[in-house]
Amino acid sequence: MKPNEITKILYEVQHPAKGDKNIVELGMVEKIDIDGNRVTVTLAFPKHRDPLAEYLIGSTKAALVRNIPGVEAEVKTVVKDAGKKPVGLNLGTEEISGVKHIIGVASGKGGVGKSTVAVNLAVALARLGYKVGLADADVYGPSVPKMTGTEGQMPEAFRDGEKEVIMPLEKYGVKWMSIGYFAKPEQALIWRGPMACNALKQMILQVRWGELDFLLIDMPPGTGDIHISLVHDIPLTGAVIVSTPQAVALADVEKGVNMFRNESINKPILGLIENMAWFTPEELPENRYYIFGKDGGARMAEKYGIPLLGQIPLVQGIRESGDEGEPVALSSRPDGEAFVLLADKLARSVSF
Ligand SMILES: Nc1ncnc2c1ncn2[C@@H]1O[C@H](COP(=O)(O)OP(=O)(O)OP(=O)(O)O)[C@@H](O)[C@H]1O
Ligand SMILES: [Mg+2]
Repeated sequence: MKPNEITKILYEVQHPAKGDKNIVELGMVEKIDIDGNRVTVTLAFPKHRDPLAEYLIGSTKAALVRNIPGVEAEVKTVVKDAGKKPVGLNLGTEEISGVKHIIGVASGKGGVGKSTVAVNLAVALARLGYKVGLADADVYGPSVPKMTGTEGQMPEAFRDGEKEVIMPLEKYGVKWMSIGYFAKPEQALIWRGPMACNALKQMILQVRWGELDFLLIDMPPGTGDIHISLVHDIPLTGAVIVSTPQAVALADVEKGVNMFRNESINKPILGLIENMAWFTPEELPENRYYIFGKDGGARMAEKYGIPLLGQIPLVQGIRESGDEGEPVALSSRPDGEAFVLLADKLARSVSF
């Protein structure tokens, strides 16, 4: 048993007086000690004789017993100032100080292949010899664990002085981090407002990335509060925008572009990536069918004065390799090489 596995179990313990929020998201879990089959959880309460203390002690114990066969569960309590920040959320930028370039991978619209592009771009940059990490900031629908075949793995977490840090997973020469490693899928979907923002920042600022040339951030779709908060707190070098050539998707690109160019954000857009630019059947690799329209991405790039970094075709193999957790950028197939070209162009667009 590891502390973060216990944390996962404690998500089940809801505070009856605070909507359906659980004790982890309320910052009440002060400490987790594990000694053989004995697990001691210390809960922090804002005042002495909290009327709900007994109830929460009971439900915490019950959750442990229910989930860990043969556990000897103990729950202790401490009193802590309500004004004090919960442990671990006191986030500075030390963990990203060794990262040369942080690049947001964004799209105005969902489902355009942003995660596919982010994962393959990360793998392709690593193939070119760069040190790369990818943070899956899509707290509502994390897809990096599945796309990289790292589902079900649990990153190590440990305490370093006053801080709780998380080690990224490493596979295909890339360091990966995703909220999907910690939350059950249905949990990720219900996070809202500040909790979602915090979780997302933790996935970037609490991770021991080490020295990296590139840290890519797979941003959630859209242009909401989460994005604004993220770009304010994380020192991005710039963003790349993913779109399909369709006119509707292009209208959303405009929103994405405007968000980064907004006065208070003002981050450079390094380029546009046109995904699903054409369809190529596996058996007719020379044929291109422009099913979502032709050159929409190029027109958009021109309109906004941003470079078109690359065009990725719609091919069955890209979807299949994503589903199998083996990104196509690992292969020397034409669609894999398309990502390597794209990675090279992106790397050349920033300075070292
Ligand atoms: N070029 C492509 N060729 C074939 N399939 C693709 C391509 N790009 C993406 N897909 C498939 O389309 C689906 C959506 O892609 P993906 O999850 O990357 O999109 P997204 O923009 O990250 O979505 P969301 O908004 O949900 O985060 C996936 O099944 C993926 O495998
Ligand atoms: Mg995605």
